[in-house]
Amino acid sequence: MALSICKRVCQFCKKPRLVFASRGLFTDNNVSSKSPKDKVKFASCPPRILSGIQPTGIPHIGNYVGAIKNWVSLQQKYDDVMYSIVDLHSVTVPQDPVTLRQNIYDMTACILACGIDPEKSILFQQSRVSEHAELAWLLSCLCTLPRLEHLPQWKEKSAKVKEPGVGLFTYPILQTADIILYKSTDVPVGEDQIHHIELARHLARTFNRNFGVIFPKPNALIGEIPKIRSLRNPQSKMSKSEINPLSRIELTDTADEIQEKMKKAVSDFTPTISYDPENRPAISNLIDIHSAFTDLFPDEICENAMLMNTIEYKQRVADVVITSLKPIREEIIRLQQDKPYLDSVLQKGSERAQNIARQTMAEVKSLMGLI
Ligand code: AMP
Ligand code: TRP
Repeated sequence: MALSICKRVCQFCKKPRLVFASRGLFTDNNVSSKSPKDKVKFASCPPRILSGIQPTGIPHIGNYVGAIKNWVSLQQKYDDVMYSIVDLHSVTVPQDPVTLRQNIYDMTACILACGIDPEKSILFQQSRVSEHAELAWLLSCLCTLPRLEHLPQWKEKSAKVKEPGVGLFTYPILQTADIILYKSTDVPVGEDQIHHIELARHLARTFNRNFGVIFPKPNALIGEIPKIRSLRNPQSKMSKSEINPLSRIELTDTADEIQEKMKKAVSDFTPTISYDPENRPAISNLIDIHSAFTDLFPDEICENAMLMNTIEYKQRVADVVITSLKPIREEIIRLQQDKPYLDSVLQKGSERAQNIARQTMAEVKSLMGLI
């Protein structure tokens, strides 16, 4: 695949924007894969994109612009793309079985409605491919405790749970298994996942060194779109866990609900529209949302909104979001009523994934002396 890279400078943040493919991603692969030393550590494999999302129900617009929208554009640019509903990751914290099952369907419906084509991409449910758990076990025997103890997400997440389970501690190993089981080369994730991709590299390298060079180096593809912030509290990111539903727009929200949430979004006392995330986080968040839905840069947006006050501008952003989400919302509702179809997508995708997974596991087991 040829990468088209172009440079633009944002007038407000003054940062050059390195645009990977059409817009929005950069890679953390800053070590030249051509160095002879590197060749020994990692196998050379054709590009394969893989990412995963936990089934948390209906995604909000932060999940959409931060993850799913990128998945759709990567599907158009790469030939070999795999996306997983990572339900085994969800059970690292307590789940109600009925809700979890519904959430798996809802997330599948949303991903399809946003434009993932199950013929082009392999869309699958992690728990239907038992090799994930099998490889995770083998990798856990190669991973030292300090490697996991230092991971920021463990510190953060375990502090929130009364008695954190072992699964929560070892879940980054499962994530490594998700990635290397398919010999994935590029992994689109949010910045919060960089440490997990580093662990994947470390364990792939360790396996290669101990048993034989079969795994390529997984690189993180980081979205360059800024985190979308809560509409009620722009100090924190838009999140499912915030109690106030006015803080987030979900993909199935009606036009009226979006209007209402935008109207009630906090702003500041300056009536004009300017992009300044540090000093004007609330209005800059609305500009980020507007930018993510239109692919306009913040400077272009501010120029167009020169004659608007905040009330008028909120209405403008609401209109953009309502128009963009309308077809997605309608498709989600249609798909939610067709569970047999959703099931067949997940089953076919999981079978395709398992065909690849089985081959890797046969290699792994043979190299480790298990078969
Ligand atoms: P989560 O369910 O929070 O783990 O998020 C799933 C995906 O959506 C991850 O790739 C996150 O990086 C992304 N994401 C979550 N919240 C936001 C947000 N507020 N803004 C942008 N991306 C987000
Ligand atoms: N841990 C990721 C998250 O919380 C989800 C995930 C699981 C993932 N397995 C993956 C992402 C493999 C990329 C590749 O967002």
